[in-house]
Amino acid sequence: MTDIDVARDVEQADLKAMSDMNVDNVYTLMDVQLRERPGPRELYKRWEKQNWSVYDLDWTKDKEDWSMLPDEIKGEVVYGLQAFFLGEVCVTETLSPMVHAAPTTEDQQFLSTQLVDEARHAIFFEEFFRNVLRIDGLDALKNDPMFQVYTNANEPGYGKTFFKDLPAVTDAVREDPGDYKKWVTSIVLYHMLIEGMLALYGQRQLLQATRAFNVLPSFRAGFTAVTRDESRHVNYGVYALRKAYEAGLHDHIVDSALSLMDGPCDLLTRPQEKIVLPPEEFMAMIPAEMQQGNFFEEWEFPLVQLRKRLGGAGISSDAIDKLDLFWRSRIVENTNDYANRFGEPHPALDRDPEGWASLQSKAGVAVG
Ligand SMILES: [Fe+2]
Ligand SMILES: [Fe+2]
Repeated sequence: MTDIDVARDVEQADLKAMSDMNVDNVYTLMDVQLRERPGPRELYKRWEKQNWSVYDLDWTKDKEDWSMLPDEIKGEVVYGLQAFFLGEVCVTETLSPMVHAAPTTEDQQFLSTQLVDEARHAIFFEEFFRNVLRIDGLDALKNDPMFQVYTNANEPGYGKTFFKDLPAVTDAVREDPGDYKKWVTSIVLYHMLIEGMLALYGQRQLLQATRAFNVLPSFRAGFTAVTRDESRHVNYGVYALRKAYEAGLHDHIVDSALSLMDGPCDLLTRPQEKIVLPPEEFMAMIPAEMQQGNFFEEWEFPLVQLRKRLGGAGISSDAIDKLDLFWRSRIVENTNDYANRFGEPHPALDRDPEGWASLQSKAGVAVG
């Protein structure tokens, strides 16, 4: 099967078929779309055909599966699920100024479909949390220490990205909808850094793990449909930035990305958080896909995604290399920060010294 065949299959799949789909096929669709360069009307048409309903999902088997999972495994996935639930709520709340300020009617029409998608994604998580995890909405999480970290705008990773930078760039658009540059900056953060870079690794890890265990079929179906929706959003972002590039905003796009990349990088490296890897016997129980410790993969994957999409928008390879260097250097800084804070090396260094040496050399740091 060629990647075009794979992409067409994903495009036409119904909700039921999504339960057993490999998420990498959805990423193949994203890449095929990147080459085909669909515009907003083309993406709108796909949205009409790919609509799905949260209320078609039957949670019976998911409830059974969840009740039988060992607590250690639940603990491994629950914070990732919270991060996605909260993230969908944040992006739903901040998109409307971008719809209003979009440069053409076709852009507005596509972004209106995205607004509905984001609301649907938030409702999907709400239903999953309520029916399967028995957690009644985000309010029920308020006292959870991790949730408090996520929602704290002064926390440099998740908090800064979703509770400081995202409201700031979208408020700037709301206050000044005629300023195209501000709108472009909001696309850089929303569509490139959050949707096209940050969300992808976690989505992939959660979907591969639940598939490897053959558990939570309705969660898998819904979350795969969410990922297919995201493929339209991300490729719209590439389109919007290509238009901005054609309008002479190459450097503005690069500067916006450089000034907003620290939050996503800190979110993934989490230098303030002590990492406790599960004991060996536990690691042996769980599939490789969901084991913590694939740090370099987790840090590299988003960068590869960003490079592809900015390249598709026309950004020069010199500028992309600059962003790459920023990302890698910040990871080196953060892991050093971790070592100073906790008096021991970041677990990534122990697990994979070669990965570490390669990261350092790419970041231009002398390997000692
Ligand atoms: Fe979403
Ligand atoms: Fe999205």
